[in-house]
Amino acid sequence: MTSPPLTRPIKSFVLRSGRMSRAQSRSYTNSPRWIIPCGAAPLDLAARFGNDHPVTVEIGFGMGTASAEIAAANADRNYLGIEVFRAGIGRLIWEIENRSLENIRIIEGDAAEVVEKLLVPESIAAFHIFFPDPWPKKKHHKRRLLQKPFAELLASRLAPGGYVYVVSDWEDYAAGALEALGGVETLENPWRGFAPAQAWRPQTKFEKKGIAKNHTINEIYFVRRERRDGKRDTGTD
Ligand SMILES: C[S@@+](CC[C@H](N)C(=O)[O-])C[C@H]1O[C@@H](n2cnc3c(N)ncnc32)[C@H](O)[C@@H]1O
Repeated sequence: MTSPPLTRPIKSFVLRSGRMSRAQSRSYTNSPRWIIPCGAAPLDLAARFGNDHPVTVEIGFGMGTASAEIAAANADRNYLGIEVFRAGIGRLIWEIENRSLENIRIIEGDAAEVVEKLLVPESIAAFHIFFPDPWPKKKHHKRRLLQKPFAELLASRLAPGGYVYVVSDWEDYAAGALEALGGVETLENPWRGFAPAQAWRPQTKFEKKGIAKNHTINEIYFVRRERRDGKRDTGTD
């Protein structure tokens, strides 16, 4: 499958300068083992993890507490976190070491570039995007990550049967993401609209913030069709 190029790069983040705690800074500086350099393309995931377990990619993991919890509960799967926020990377490394996790790696970089340049088509079991930056002002909507080109790109990297799981507390963002993913031919929504809450997903920091503001949490879950041509497998052709 060819990967559709992103027509215009989206800058979906502003680098937060949030000060690193001493522990985060120590973890970030002393533990290069968990970080995959951004330049190594295409990425040999089996070599990086030391096994060929299915890989879930989490985009924008923030402080990474939910990522660590999910990885700890699924030792037979691998997790690749992509984040630009260095304090969050330091925090996740601290979690990895504190919990002795062997199945997480991190790439520090812009997910739009990393997914396009480093991930091999049809190689990823799942994408998790929990509470993407909402860019609530209309003039900033163009900076939202979950738009049609990125939805197409994610679908192109998913292995058949893999899934994309997005959760947002911004209703119009969730509606836009549902529409963008719904417009990708190779993806299928097992539900009519938003998905039911996935019981296994831990609450994230930004989810708590959204709930405190009485925001509705919307879940979006699409599955990559088994057929390469994106058509439904009806058994008649
Ligand atoms: C609103 S926070 C949510 C963090 C976490 N998932 C949570 O739910 O608590 C969004 C995160 O996505 C990261 N982010 C935004 N755009 C990104 C991009 N293009 N590549 C990598 N990370 C990105 C930001 O740095 C930020 O940490």
